[in-house]
Amino acid sequence: MLSLTGPQVDYLRPLKTHDIPKVLTIERQMYSYPWSEGIFKDCLKIGYSNWAFIKDGQFVGYVILSVAVGEAHILNICLDPAYQGKGLGRQFLKEVLIIAKKKNANSVFLEVRPSNTAAVQLYKTAGFKKIGKRKNYYPAADGKEDALVLSLDLTSDSA
Ligand SMILES: CC(C)(COP(=O)(O)OP(=O)(O)OC[C@H]1O[C@@H](n2cnc3c(N)ncnc32)[C@H](O)[C@@H]1OP(=O)(O)O)[C@@H](O)C(=O)NCCC(=O)NCCS
Repeated sequence: MLSLTGPQVDYLRPLKTHDIPKVLTIERQMYSYPWSEGIFKDCLKIGYSNWAFIKDGQFVGYVILSVAVGEAHILNICLDPAYQGKGLGRQFLKEVLIIAKKKNANSVFLEVRPSNTAAVQLYKTAGFKKIGKRKNYYPAADGKEDALVLSLDLTSDSA
């Protein structure tokens, strides 16, 4: 397990099948177009790097990370709304980047909705740079929304 601020207080542990009901509760609260149970089960089966965020012993979020041939992709990162806006997303993201480095990733990629101001701000201040845009990538109430494609170089000193 990866300790953040002290032993067994805030940490990441591997995500397990028994976590899926809690994952789905958070996922459905946070996204208008949530991933299905089947997608999460597949992520566990495929063997992505899947982690649970634990705060004071409580399951408060998760990350689905794919790492291959020197590239990491954050496919989903999500925190329980009751725990958002308190710096936890930033703390957990730092640990996710450490995991990616340990798995020999040189860079991290992700897609984010431009309208997701909290996430965009989090990634920007963590050093991610915009490298592109995917047109009409996300479903949206009024049609489709583009995705910003962001990347972080893990080989630079600041990462
Ligand atoms: C994105 C997410 C992981 C961020 O976690 P968090 O704990 O809420 O964020 P933090 O408290 O660590 O704050 C990170 C930055 O975002 C900013 N921020 C947080 N909430 C914000 C909001 N509602 N509006 C604007 N900025 C916000 C903070 O100011 C902080 O930036 P700063 O340090 O420059 O001030 C979390 O909000 C979340 O799970 N959202 C739903 C799922 C999601 O959108 N995931 C990302 C998909 S790409």
